[in-house]
Amino acid sequence: MAQRQTGFACSCGYVSIQRQGRCPKCGAWGSLKPRRSDRSPAAGAAAPQPLSAVNTDETPRLCSSIGELDRVLGGGLVPGSLVLLGGEPGIGKSTLLLQALAALAQRAGPVLYVTGEESLQQVALRAARLGLSEANVLALAESRLPAILASAVQVRPHVVAVDSVQTLQIDGSSSAPGSPALVREATAALMSFAKTDNVPVILVGHVTKEGGLAGPKTLEHLVDAVLHFEGDPSSSHRVLRATKNRFGSTNEIGVFEMRGDGLRQVTNPSALFLAERPSGVAGSAVVVCVEGSRPLLVEVQALTAASSGVPRRAVLGVDPYRVALLLAVCDRRAGVDVLGSDVFVNVAGGVRLGEPAADLGVVAALASSASGRPVDPHTACFGEVGLAGEVRAAGATSLRLAEAAKLGFRRCVLPEACRRRAKGRGPLELVGVADVRAALGAMLR
Ligand code: TYD
Ligand code: MG
Repeated sequence: MAQRQTGFACSCGYVSIQRQGRCPKCGAWGSLKPRRSDRSPAAGAAAPQPLSAVNTDETPRLCSSIGELDRVLGGGLVPGSLVLLGGEPGIGKSTLLLQALAALAQRAGPVLYVTGEESLQQVALRAARLGLSEANVLALAESRLPAILASAVQVRPHVVAVDSVQTLQIDGSSSAPGSPALVREATAALMSFAKTDNVPVILVGHVTKEGGLAGPKTLEHLVDAVLHFEGDPSSSHRVLRATKNRFGSTNEIGVFEMRGDGLRQVTNPSALFLAERPSGVAGSAVVVCVEGSRPLLVEVQALTAASSGVPRRAVLGVDPYRVALLLAVCDRRAGVDVLGSDVFVNVAGGVRLGEPAADLGVVAALASSASGRPVDPHTACFGEVGLAGEVRAAGATSLRLAEAAKLGFRRCVLPEACRRRAKGRGPLELVGVADVRAALGAMLR
């Protein structure tokens, strides 16, 4: 057995690095004996094994059959995973959760819905409104975590949902419900339940004013997946987005529409996002983006107005730094005089564009508003814009072109490099451009 001497210890518990004749703690003479650490494996410790010997057969995922949700999860709920569902209060988290649970229960068996925010009657009324009164969902109005876990162990549901993490209490804990310490402790306990009992747990978390879930980044690194449910409360569109997923891509989005009888999936979001597009108005351009595996046509709107003082900039749905950069490019590379104007940019439908390929849409909307010339309504575009005014290639060209054609567009302005590579162009007229000047020349009427 491999042993190593690590100082001297007295029977009273005192430990010293040096040999001493008398223990300073208990006063006994000659009681400090050499201490040896046992390097043999601890009882029950797992032995390392070659990666090739590890079983990689995936346990089947639980599918809700709500395609927009399953796709964001990476193909369904993974058994034993902890998923955090975040969003602003009132956005529809409880509604989505109840609909998802009902769908999961139909396929897998009983599920448990724990609410610490509402009464059982309120939950039942919502279920009735959604037409889900008969679903195999067991409801529990409880906020004490030990009671919730005891109930979950007893009932053995196929999925546990807790609404919300901010209401959870732990007996004897000195931290207040909703405080970062308690929220973290409760999440860790739920994680350990999920892993030991191999039951997926969905945890609802309200987003704080700063946009973090229960305090900036408190929970994100503790859980397996973080889904954000977002949208403009004044519109009926809701977008479900994975910002972290140990079991899938984080680029996927799911689109829903809030109706009087619950959330409906939107399987063709491009049509929805373009439905209210104004025609013949300057400052609107349609850009073909790719979110995860899905192409999406969205309308970028810009408004430029004469400024009285320091120019104002307000941007929704695109990175404001990116817009600042594109404004400079418009000014210096395309001769569009916008730097001294107030500038407002918005992406219709509450979508957030993260792709550089959306640049050309922003530039076209800005230039259109500044010049008062509308973008040709039958033309869509995409392409990353560089500081030299060059239009750079983007991936997934065929996917984008197919979506633009499906939505009835007749022309697409795209990076020249993508045009050369485009195969099977279908009914679309492709206009390959190398710089923003050429792009604007092809798009503005
Ligand atoms: P809710 O799921 O309670 O939001 P959260 O849990 O995120 O706080 O839903 C809140 C809003 O959704 C509420 O204003 C009412 C609306 N709603 C509908 O429009 N249709 C419906 O079928 C339901 C159940 C709610
Ligand atoms: Mg709620």
